[in-house]
Amino acid sequence: MPTALFTPIKVGSSLLRHRIVMSPLTRLRADADHVPVPLTTEYYQQRASEGGLLVAEATFIAEDAGVYPSAPGIYNDKQIEAWKNVTKAVHDKGGSIYLQLWHVGRATVSAWIPGSKLPVSASAIAINGKNTAGMDYEVPRVLAVEEISQITQTYADAAKNAISAGFDGVEIHGANGYLIDQFINTSSNIRTDQYGGSIENRTRFALEVVEGVSKAIGEERTAIRLSPWSGFQDMKDDTPYETWGYLVNQLQERHPRLAYLHFIEPRDQFINDGNPTADRGDAPFRKAWKGPFITAGGYTTTPKRAFETTEKLENTLVAFGRSFIANPDLPLRLKNDWPLNKYDRSTFYTSGSVGYTDYPYYNPGTARDIKN
Ligand SMILES: Cc1cc2nc3c(=O)[nH]c(=O)nc-3n(C[C@H](O)[C@H](O)[C@H](O)COP(=O)(O)O)c2cc1C
Repeated sequence: MPTALFTPIKVGSSLLRHRIVMSPLTRLRADADHVPVPLTTEYYQQRASEGGLLVAEATFIAEDAGVYPSAPGIYNDKQIEAWKNVTKAVHDKGGSIYLQLWHVGRATVSAWIPGSKLPVSASAIAINGKNTAGMDYEVPRVLAVEEISQITQTYADAAKNAISAGFDGVEIHGANGYLIDQFINTSSNIRTDQYGGSIENRTRFALEVVEGVSKAIGEERTAIRLSPWSGFQDMKDDTPYETWGYLVNQLQERHPRLAYLHFIEPRDQFINDGNPTADRGDAPFRKAWKGPFITAGGYTTTPKRAFETTEKLENTLVAFGRSFIANPDLPLRLKNDWPLNKYDRSTFYTSGSVGYTDYPYYNPGTARDIKN
């Protein structure tokens, strides 16, 4: 088996010893005040490894940035103190940890926002279908230009909080149909001001957030996650290669020292009409970006691809989602070709330790091989 997956790489100020990254994974185990609980420390501590990078779950940058019950925040002292336990536990094992910064925009429910305020977005376009509370998505309120710059500042403040909490850096959540993605895609942005219309305008908010966060905590501690091919939450762009190509070129030009770019590969369940699978892929973005690049999506079902990818592509890391949920010792298992625990989807978003901290470490006596 090729071994590039287990060679060192510098990401921001962290010198990693392997390229297996834990993908950001929402688990909804924080308390009612959006404060991480001791179990969360145990969960990340279990998944930390010497020289390994974890990206902690999407975390609200403000009280009104999303407010799913039991998702964590990074906007007050109690949350910062609780996250300190997590970062310390990971650092004590020799690992690094970034925090994913989250504003969900229209992907929420007014009943969950303090003051029952309407969700906000680039344009007054609701997501089709039912939200997680079982109701139709509401038509969001359009953000005014001054509010957009306030939110950029809120990202920067949250990034500073993350650094105070001991994180090695932050990953701006620019993927999966949340606020930044809602500005980027033509399906959710029909603005006619400087934040809508042209590619330059639709990517302006993303670039301003990167700029604001970089200024606040340093470019080398700032990263962004993007998902050009995801149809989740009605995302669809008329010209994905041009749109994200422009964005990546701008990032390369303006912020070449960002810690990394994180791209989610096209996956079957995220089909974008009009973009046949064969024509999709992250290769052009990968080429335009010269720094560390994390690729995610589907490695859980085909882990061997992680070996091939890192063998073929320099400066590349691979993020695993579902198999990191189910395998606290995933890097060791991949290194030794040990079988993987199967993940249990029914406990992804429940509460307590079941399906969270009770997945076993490898034990030759009980393990079952689920690898394809
Ligand atoms: C339970 C669950 C929670 C997730 N939460 C997040 C999240 O908070 N932020 C994010 O960017 N992606 C999130 N994702 C997507 C994963 O980070 C990852 O991209 C996806 O699972 C594909 O990787 P895999 O095939 O290795 O599972 C989540 C996925 C799952 C299964």
